[in-house]
Amino acid sequence: MRLLVTGASGLLGLNLSLHARRAHTVIGVDRGTLVAPPFELLKMDLLEDGALERAVMESRADAVIHCAAVAEVDWCEQNPDLAWRVNAELPGQVATVCARSGVGLVHISTDAVFDGISPGPYTEADEPNPIGVYALTKHAGESAALEAHPHAIVARVNFYGWSVSGTRSLAEFFVNSLKAGIAVRGFTDVIFCPMLVNDLATTLLRMLEAGLKGVFHSVGPEPMSKYEFGVEIARKFGFDERLVSADSVEDAGFAAPRAHNLHLSVHKLSTALGGAIPRFSTGLETFYTQYEQGYPQQLRSYQQPSTGAQFDSPLGGLPRRREGQ
Ligand SMILES: NC(=O)c1ccc[n+]([C@@H]2O[C@H](COP(=O)([O-])OP(=O)(O)OC[C@H]3O[C@@H](n4cnc5c(N)ncnc54)[C@H](OP(=O)(O)O)[C@@H]3O)[C@@H](O)[C@H]2O)c1
Repeated sequence: MRLLVTGASGLLGLNLSLHARRAHTVIGVDRGTLVAPPFELLKMDLLEDGALERAVMESRADAVIHCAAVAEVDWCEQNPDLAWRVNAELPGQVATVCARSGVGLVHISTDAVFDGISPGPYTEADEPNPIGVYALTKHAGESAALEAHPHAIVARVNFYGWSVSGTRSLAEFFVNSLKAGIAVRGFTDVIFCPMLVNDLATTLLRMLEAGLKGVFHSVGPEPMSKYEFGVEIARKFGFDERLVSADSVEDAGFAAPRAHNLHLSVHKLSTALGGAIPRFSTGLETFYTQYEQGYPQQLRSYQQPSTGAQFDSPLGGLPRRREGQ
């Protein structure tokens, strides 16, 4: 297949593009963060007039995997207009162009569409109740995508891994801090189901190849707190786990509210794919092996040195607090 990957410089987009290129032709959309990755690039801002149509036409894509978003939860809370434009409106426009051109679509959404009040696990039949600007915009984006393209896949995800800047994921935050001996807060009252981004890439491609459509929870099969996640990383990397403190997210002073329980059921996905969803322990093992084998440095070599991912973003060099944090 010819795959158009938006957000190709992002945590998901880059890892997905590098994985997908082994079996498919990948054309990534990038605004100038990347330099010479081993796949074709279309340089454009997707908010510019006509950019989407041009991307779909020039790529001659069979399917679009729409990873581009503004994923900084607290930044969205303070910049609701741009968050709405990118996270809520753009997916509908992507879906419209794809549907009109007979192109498949995988739209990336989030576990955060739920309020996290229920004991869970949340299934796809449960009604979302997003809290905060980011969650609201992402929920609106998945509705817009499905309305315009009823055959689209909407994947609600949560993932970690290595990124082009080395600072984009929650796992990188733990590794960078603990390696430097810096104490970090781990939240015992935020439950999520993390999946290694490379396992997610494999899973998304399996979903596309299987011809699925509709909403799927594409997260890891095991729920854990963000505190447990930090401790697991400390143990795997041989860092001092006592540097991870057991705290409440309510004391963190974040701008955006956080849902407490994002335990999502993956039953629908595992049934549709006819197999088990990648486990946390194998994902963490891969994450560590990648570290030992220089994968983080390989990703960083694709970063445009003159700009830097952080300062080329619409966030204008603001500190980036990841969705996971
Ligand atoms: N990280 C998580 O754990 C998590 C959890 C749940 C859901 N998600 C969802 O997963 C998807 C990918 O997230 P991520 O963590 O990979 O995000 P990310 O690392 O912040 O990447 C976002 C990407 O979107 C691009 N982008 C933003 N606005 C754009 C525009 N106007 N035109 C073109 N490109 C634009 C960015 O380009 P620049 O490099 O130029 O800024 C970047 O490549 C998003 O839909 C997010 O909501 C993520």
